[in-house]
Amino acid sequence: MQLKERIENLLEEARKIRLQTTEEAEQYRIRLLGRKGEMNELFEEFKNVEPAAKKEIGQALNQLKNAIQAAILQAKEQCSRPEGRQPADMLDLSRPADERTGHRHPLSQIREEIFRIFGKIGFDISDGPEIEDDWHVFTALNFSADHPARDMQDTFFVERSGSPKDVLLRTHTSSVQIRSMLSQPLPIRTLCPGRVYRNEVVSARAHCFFHQVEGLYVDKNVSFADLHDTLLYFAREMFGSDTRIRLRPSYFPFTEPSAEMDIACTICAGNGCSLCKHTGWVEILGCGMVDPAVLENCGIDPGQYSGFAFGMGVERIANLLYRVNDLRLFSENDRRFLAQF
Ligand code: PHE
Repeated sequence: MQLKERIENLLEEARKIRLQTTEEAEQYRIRLLGRKGEMNELFEEFKNVEPAAKKEIGQALNQLKNAIQAAILQAKEQCSRPEGRQPADMLDLSRPADERTGHRHPLSQIREEIFRIFGKIGFDISDGPEIEDDWHVFTALNFSADHPARDMQDTFFVERSGSPKDVLLRTHTSSVQIRSMLSQPLPIRTLCPGRVYRNEVVSARAHCFFHQVEGLYVDKNVSFADLHDTLLYFAREMFGSDTRIRLRPSYFPFTEPSAEMDIACTICAGNGCSLCKHTGWVEILGCGMVDPAVLENCGIDPGQYSGFAFGMGVERIANLLYRVNDLRLFSENDRRFLAQF
């Protein structure tokens, strides 16, 4: 074969070749560029080329050498990349995120734990709108128009021409309890989770929104003892099997009797510390027997049915479990904070 033809064949090979592994690249390098390789042979023969053809053949030889080196370099780069992928494949936007780059928000983790605990005793989950009307948030829950309890919860109203102060951001998810009683068949055993809004100045201890999980059980013969035992079960699942609770009389327009539940302080076990303000107890939720007037408002006969309800703040539970002393941290999405949970 003519020298020129051999160079052309090898050049074509060098341009087409796709070396897949480091060994393949090394073998190719030895065959072409090694001491006894084809390039040295060709340079040897080049010495005998007549002067008139030297320029042309010399250039072709250099071109071939460059092409061979390029093929080897490309193979080396490709093999050093993970899984030998081509540059174009390396940014795969559809690839699922690395699990370590994100995880459940602490409030989601607690909300899911609450779902799990009540799920075991038959509670399902109900949903309702954050933008509500006065009837579902107040009136149906037994707040009369001039009832001072309306001021207990400073409300954000949505301005609309025509009916001012009728559309508002819900101040509690008790509105979802009303919706459940209106739409679900009895008996009802449901949780009402969600974000609620109150017109508070934002500080470490208060925020203009927070998260609640409320619960409702309506059936025949539901008693206060059922409420007590359900909440004791919850507290022990959530805070540990030796947790003690106490119920203090309280007031809510929609429950009668009403109570607030405390648990023995999780920090000092009841001995007194700054978290429990040296009382040994911390408040975690409000509860009570559903007021007969509320059942009636939802078309349920209070002569036949009774029920209990309770409502807790998810941030409050998180504070007790993790001792986060600034509420704002929960909504700032600072990864240094979130990565701790
Ligand atoms: N809705 C009350 C609140 O937001 C909590 C509550 C729910 C109290 C159910 C009693 C019964 O504070």
